Amino acid sequence: MIDKNNDIIGEITKLKKQRNAIILAHNYQRPEVQDIADFVGDSLELSQKAAKTNANVLVLCGVNFMAETAYIVNPKKVVLLPDMDSGCPMADMVTVEALIAKKKELPGVTVVCYVNSTAAIKAESDICCTSANAVKVVQSLGDKEILFIPDKYLGQWVAEKTGHKMHLWPGFCPTHVRISAGDILERKKGFPNAVTLVHPECLPEAKAVADEVLSTGGMIRYARESNVKEMIIGTETGIIYRLQKENPGKTLIPVTVKAVCPNMKRITLEKVLWSLQKMENRIVVPEDIRVRALSSVERMLAIV
Ligand code: 13P
Ligand code: SF4
Repeated sequence: MIDKNNDIIGEITKLKKQRNAIILAHNYQRPEVQDIADFVGDSLELSQKAAKTNANVLVLCGVNFMAETAYIVNPKKVVLLPDMDSGCPMADMVTVEALIAKKKELPGVTVVCYVNSTAAIKAESDICCTSANAVKVVQSLGDKEILFIPDKYLGQWVAEKTGHKMHLWPGFCPTHVRISAGDILERKKGFPNAVTLVHPECLPEAKAVADEVLSTGGMIRYARESNVKEMIIGTETGIIYRLQKENPGKTLIPVTVKAVCPNMKRITLEKVLWSLQKMENRIVVPEDIRVRALSSVERMLAIV
């Protein structure tokens, strides 16, 4: 039988060489996209990789803000996003106008901006964070008054961990709020010896019944380094593929198969190939915004 994917993979590999391109994929990407990628990681790791690479072209298999961040840290490179509609609804829950108005209400406030945000929002913020380093970033700010945007659940969790009271923006991830405490407790009944790992974007009541709260990169490390054999995973289900591939002897159970991010799933092998053939969709950030956004991202990268 002729495998269509093999032909596409062959073409992608050839074009990657010709263009001196690398493919960076988020942990939530489709299995076949993860397999073709040169690097798979969480938001922080993708931005670090983008900042360091010698490749001329970066194909970002993830959502829009990840491609923008890659461009912000490495503007001399061509950054391609294989599907322009691959956005993050949480990132769109804060607008520049609303943020400026809030800053006027809270003069002198330090804005900590989750990396799941647009470049224009990063430019209006003081420092970025990801789910992997949010606690460290907030701790680095001493007793400054903080406005945390846009994820209220990540913000709430960081406030709890650090004891730092913060103003929270009312944003959230529509995928992670589908992971309920009830679903977790139900799974635990079926797997009483399992350890439950959830993402900080989950609801507080879901985090309360979990054992560990970790970024996607944190989950990958936990599964690799701990002796735990069974894990219940509370995040977007795409991560299960990588977890299972890297830990064939372990049992990995999603809390719910409803936790799917449709935007992450927009990227397919066909679109990756098209992207390299046409050198589209090119992600560019206007220079005045990029420079201001870079200072927020660089402040974060200096901490981790
Ligand atoms: P991570 O940085 O943990 O990979 O999370 C990114 C994200 O979009 C979670 O929904
Ligand atoms: Fe955005 Fe949620 Fe999708 Fe992550 S899972 S990209 S936060 S919508």
